[in-house]
Amino acid sequence: MKAKITVNKNNEIGKIDRRIYGSFIEHLGRAVYNGIYEPTHQSADDKGFRQDVLELINQLNVPIVRYPGGNFVSGYNWEDGIGDKSKRPQKLDLAWLTVETNQVGVDEFQEWAKRAGTDVMMAVNLGTRGPDEARNLIEYCNSDTNTYYANLRRQNGFDKPFGFKLWCLGNEMDGDWQICHKTAEEYGRAATETAKVLKWVDPTIELVACGSSDPNMPTYGEWERTVLEHTYDYIDYLSLHCYYGNKAQNTPNFLARVEDMDRFIKKTANICDEIKAKKNSDKTVNLSFDEWNVWYRTKDEEKEMERWQIAPHLLEEKYNFEDALLVGCMLMSLQNNCDRVKVACLAQLVNVIAPIMTENGGKAWKQTIFYPYMYASLYGNGVTLRAESKCDSYKSSEGWDIPYLYTSVIENKEKNQVVVFAANRSLTEDMELEINLGGFEGYTLSQHIELYSDNLNATNDKDNEAVQPRNLNIISNSKVTLQKHSWNMLVFNK
Ligand code: AHR
Repeated sequence: MKAKITVNKNNEIGKIDRRIYGSFIEHLGRAVYNGIYEPTHQSADDKGFRQDVLELINQLNVPIVRYPGGNFVSGYNWEDGIGDKSKRPQKLDLAWLTVETNQVGVDEFQEWAKRAGTDVMMAVNLGTRGPDEARNLIEYCNSDTNTYYANLRRQNGFDKPFGFKLWCLGNEMDGDWQICHKTAEEYGRAATETAKVLKWVDPTIELVACGSSDPNMPTYGEWERTVLEHTYDYIDYLSLHCYYGNKAQNTPNFLARVEDMDRFIKKTANICDEIKAKKNSDKTVNLSFDEWNVWYRTKDEEKEMERWQIAPHLLEEKYNFEDALLVGCMLMSLQNNCDRVKVACLAQLVNVIAPIMTENGGKAWKQTIFYPYMYASLYGNGVTLRAESKCDSYKSSEGWDIPYLYTSVIENKEKNQVVVFAANRSLTEDMELEINLGGFEGYTLSQHIELYSDNLNATNDKDNEAVQPRNLNIISNSKVTLQKHSWNMLVFNK
């Protein structure tokens, strides 16, 4: 099959905000306990953080990590997780039907984040709690005043404020699974009042209001409109969440989910602009895609599991090669929509639907999805260019035309570099791809990284990394072969 991409240096979509390569750590399963934190592990540092895990996270160069949930945050009392560890209460976590020991809380997490070289995207509880708890939490985290909560932080050993700059106003409040789920009206009011007190304590922060927890929610659209009617003047971003799966074992249709993601982003941005116009506002509310991934094998697992365990194996999705192909495409979608998506979080980072897995007391390793995430984060920086592509297509189950080629093109001006990410979604045919980089005289192809496996179901485990990228030989500056069902990164340098 033949395909062609044409770009023009002047045809920019927008500048990529590095926070689109963010991730997420929730108090869920083994994400925190025996994931990032395991004081008895041989690689544990002075604070009990696993350095083998930190070393893998460093390879990903993660700019921001959302914390502490997720569904967990809607029942969380942050005060349980500060101060003397021996006095912290063990509590029931009703989101995941487990026991939370509170051995890690905001004090430890900000310390871990520093060691991981990442920022914290902090979420407040708008389920069981509200503005009162939120204003105290932000005073504890961000205030330099001589007042109770700022002094409590000092007393706990942290003289300088943590300075978290990005805050989520609750989590998935549209879902009836959420602890203290709300109607759009109820949430819109609570989010507005919480936004006001948070920004009064620290006017330098940015806020994310909850959009729908999935584009297929029956309230999608109306939820966004109502929430934005209330919150528009007080927030900076509206959240999107979406997980895809291949339950039907229909790989072409599964790989077409990225088009669904594209539409979800565009529709949600349009809704934001509709409210902007209605309010005659000069301000643009952008998007925070703060939960996205492949997730279907381990959905609803907590309902089957023995209740009230500490750090059980939960949502430990084992990713195969085709999952990595879709994750690679979803990253390109975020890049292509960088004019509106300013934050995004791969959900999640360690053990729970994650690119990194650990064994209690043992190894840490990379799942298949680790690689596209790593290359996007390391090389997908700069300005996304509009790519015109010509290619054969197939039909998705919705009847959409799905081009076999899915691509994004990014110019890194500082490095005089152009990076093309490209997936061939044909399951049977290799693709001869011609690339025309208009306005980039003197640029030559210097690297072709390919992620490929013969077996779409191949997985990695602690002793065998079956799916790994490889460097291909460069034969031409403008023509490459993309193997059938492969994900590729092409780096052009001047
Ligand atoms: O990421 C796992 C869960 O998925 C989160 O807790 C929740 O927000 C979403 O439903």
